[in-house]
Amino acid sequence: MGADGTAAPQPYRWLVDSSATTVDDGLPEGEEKVRAVRAMFDTIAPRYDLVNRIMTFRMDVGWRRRAIRALDLGTRSVVVDLACGTGDMCIDLVDAGHRPIGVDLSFGMLAAARTDAPLIQGDALRLPFPDGSVDGVTCGFALRNFVSLPPMLAELARILRPGGRIALLDVAEPPNPVMRLGHSVYFGRVVPLIGGLLSDKAAYRYLPKSVAYLPEPDELLAMVVDAGFDDAERTLLSGGISQLYTATRR
Ligand SMILES: C[S@@+](CC[C@H](N)C(=O)[O-])C[C@H]1O[C@@H](n2cnc3c(N)ncnc32)[C@H](O)[C@@H]1O
Repeated sequence: MGADGTAAPQPYRWLVDSSATTVDDGLPEGEEKVRAVRAMFDTIAPRYDLVNRIMTFRMDVGWRRRAIRALDLGTRSVVVDLACGTGDMCIDLVDAGHRPIGVDLSFGMLAAARTDAPLIQGDALRLPFPDGSVDGVTCGFALRNFVSLPPMLAELARILRPGGRIALLDVAEPPNPVMRLGHSVYFGRVVPLIGGLLSDKAAYRYLPKSVAYLPEPDELLAMVVDAGFDDAERTLLSGGISQLYTATRR
């Protein structure tokens, strides 16, 4: 209850429309998904890094560095880190000698960022960069948050110069059946528990469910090629609990 005796606001209720979809309502689509995802990340931003480190046993740090190495770009390359969140990838890109620019939908995540790289609030489907103006794009653990992947990949192809590279990370389900079982218990039960204790229950219940948005690997690789890339490859990391898509702009 609020101080005036009315019901306290739901953290994910989009501010203007209290009946709007939230991530607690399942798997939203279209503009509802954009609003629900933005509100969710605004809510969990203050403890996002802490929960991430705990639930991945710090493996997320190594996965981001691996993605940057896989870009295989010379130093001082201009790299857009799409869905940069609190800026971890931007920090690693600077350490690798690149010139990152972070873009994220959630002002809360950007406000919690600890990087000196320039950060822009924006949507993956409308990136504020001229055609052919950047050398690389990274993206960490955000593919399943986008409304649609083909237009996002087309947007990456638009802003990249020919020969530019992408390195896109996301969670995955391990191919080994025993590991898959253990992973599904951990991801489906333990992660929501940790997230609920340290941050927000609904957000960390949504996390395992949101994997359902990811297309099958072959389908995603075909989307990458259709968007204008060559050398599309998928690499499994840490036994397949994480996956990395790389490709070169034609
Ligand atoms: C799981 S977090 C990942 C953050 C960071 N990349 C990392 O590696 O920790 C997903 C991020 O995607 C952002 N995001 C979701 N939809 C987006 C969109 N349409 N455009 C830009 N960013 C988006 C969220 O705001 C959130 O910060």
